[in-house]
Amino acid sequence: MDMAAYRQDFPTMRAGKGVYLDSACQALRPDSVIAAVNEYYTQCPACGERSVHWMSNMVSVRVDEAREALCRFFDGADPSSFIFTRNTTEGLNTVAFGSGLKKGDAVVTGDAEHNSNYVPWLTLRDSVGLKIRLSRSGPSGIFDLESLKAAMNHDVKLVAIGQCSNVTGCVVPIKDIAEIAHDWGARILVDGAQGAPHLATDLKKWDIDYYAASLHKMCGPSGMGFLYGKPECLRDLRPLLVGGGTVGLVTYDHVDFAPSPDRFEAGLQDYAGIFGTKAALDYLTKVGMDNIAAHDADLMHYLFETTRKVKDLVMVGPDEPAHRCGVFSFNIKGMGAHDVAMMLDSIDGIMVRSGMHCAHPFHVARGIEGSVRASVYLYNNHEDIDRFAAALKKVAATFGD
Ligand SMILES: Cc1ncc(COP(=O)(O)O)c(C=O)c1O
Repeated sequence: MDMAAYRQDFPTMRAGKGVYLDSACQALRPDSVIAAVNEYYTQCPACGERSVHWMSNMVSVRVDEAREALCRFFDGADPSSFIFTRNTTEGLNTVAFGSGLKKGDAVVTGDAEHNSNYVPWLTLRDSVGLKIRLSRSGPSGIFDLESLKAAMNHDVKLVAIGQCSNVTGCVVPIKDIAEIAHDWGARILVDGAQGAPHLATDLKKWDIDYYAASLHKMCGPSGMGFLYGKPECLRDLRPLLVGGGTVGLVTYDHVDFAPSPDRFEAGLQDYAGIFGTKAALDYLTKVGMDNIAAHDADLMHYLFETTRKVKDLVMVGPDEPAHRCGVFSFNIKGMGAHDVAMMLDSIDGIMVRSGMHCAHPFHVARGIEGSVRASVYLYNNHEDIDRFAAALKKVAATFGD
């Protein structure tokens, strides 16, 4: 596995623009993705699936190809089960507000979820009386199946769970959770934002009902994501937006909605983003998801090794690299997370994320004001980690407790 060669596919890496350790937020894009976006604007900047001229047909073919690529990559039921969205958040909201959840129904979710997989449930609690029950993880954030089982009951309609935490990096046993949800007659909605970029994901084998993820965390264009649903699940789901493109025929007093995916894709789509999506999936396929997972694991071990002696470093999440999916969160005693992040940037151009990472309930419940998060992807190498560790040692030695 020669991951070093792939690093050269990324313009900001080639140009030596700092040390990018913020891929859990957005991944960098390789040349092929940038070229695909550019190709749309230079070769066929028309709408797809509406006009009958050649340029529009060209776009339509590429939209179909991108959907087929998603289906192959994630092993879904059918290409029409994949709906283009702007991001994971839109996918999660589509399921939350389209499932007809009502007073007395319950959703079970995790205690380390991103706000995008928690705020919709709080909103439905307040508007329709949805009950929220939490599956609680252990002290370091490792998922606890027993806690999930204890939260299940006949009122549970949906288990909404993140595949990997964007704070602790803990990977959740999705296949087991799907089995438990189905045993109780509930559906499973997976927030794949952090899992999809790092782990080979098999939607059919794991028997997933709904899955949402963001292409911008997978080397794809900004503002591109998708929602997957089994055909029977999508049939029951009300779209979040309706209008042009979502219908068969409309009269003054009646509307026939189109089947999936059209029913969920209102208005003109982000065709450049869809071109880039296909290129990103081709790229990740070429690199190989197993190679990416092995590379992540190597970088995580190296991160733990090089930072072990950093003065006053306190980990957030398990103290075990094998449990972390590309994410290394920590604090330096006596320092605010934003201060650490800004100093890393100014010392050596090291880009990390700081704050609560949109996982507010997790931080509030554990009394943590925030954390610094270094996150890695296929283009990072040991030199990036060495530079990060060296800068962090300086920060901690100078400003730590
Ligand atoms: C676990 C998790 N879920 C959901 C999201 C939301 O993703 P997006 O902003 O692309 O909708 C993120 C973003 O970082 C995330 O890490």
